[in-house]
Formats: sequence, structure tokens, C-alpha cells
Amino acid sequence: MTSIPEYMTEKHRECDDIFTEAESSVSAGNWELAQKQWREFSEELALHLEAEESILFPQFEQATGMTSGPTYVMRGEHEQMRALVADLDKALASEDKTQFLGLSETLMVLMQQHNMKEEMMLYPMTQQSIPDAENLAGVLKAHCEPS
Ligand SMILES: [Fe+2]
Ligand SMILES: [Fe+2]
Repeated sequence: MTSIPEYMTEKHRECDDIFTEAESSVSAGNWELAQKQWREFSEELALHLEAEESILFPQFEQATGMTSGPTYVMRGEHEQMRALVADLDKALASEDKTQFLGLSETLMVLMQQHNMKEEMMLYPMTQQSIPDAENLAGVLKAHCEPS
């Protein structure tokens, strides 16, 4: 069975990969493909953020008693990501390459820093502190990959 850090880190990589593909398509001016890849990325990201906010963070908060620390910061960064994704949606809709690539660079840096904090600290701490970590990995998977 996959652990929480393994599963969630794998999802970060999947998001990064499809994000990079969408960026390349925009660079190449292939708007139709970019739209498709961008939709895939934003859906995947939305599910990931939701899974953290509604399942993983509450478990972390309950197990550690830290309710206004790391998860507060992570939730704030999620809001920044969502705002950037909304701006990127607009840049894509108007086929504005310069605008898109400027914003996507900002989002990439934000995501890298954010994901690093989760992977190095929040995910391992959750894995260690909750009694039924294996089950939680399954619940996260069910949320992120609805069949
Ligand atoms: Fe997150
Ligand atoms: Fe994450």
C-alpha cells in the first residue's frame, strides 16, 4: 500500500508534467492542444487542493493540534494558486502568449516552493502522526481519482 507522502508526491509530479506540456504548447502557439492540456492540469490541481483542504489538512490538524501553523500557510498558498490559474484561464482564452508565459512562470515557482514544503514536512508529519495513515492514503486516492 502506498504511503501518504508517496501518493501525494506522485500527484505533484503528474501536475508538474501536464503543466509543463501545456506551457510548451503555448510556446509553440498550439492553442488547441494547450487548451486540452490546461484543462487536464487545472482539473487535476483542483482535485489535489480539495483533497488536501478537506481530508489531509483536517487530519493533520487533529493529530498534531497545530491548527493555525503549516496548514494555515498552505491554505493561503492554495488561494494564490487558484487566483493565478484563473488569470491563466483568461490569458489562454484570449491566446495571449506573453501574458500566459509570464503568469505560468510565477505559478511554477509558487507550486515548487509549496510542494517542497508539503513533501518535506507536512506529508511525512501526517504519515507519522495519524493512527490510520494507510487508510487515509486510500481516501485521498478515491478523491483524486474518481472512477
Ligand atoms: Fe497543497
Ligand atoms: Fe500538494
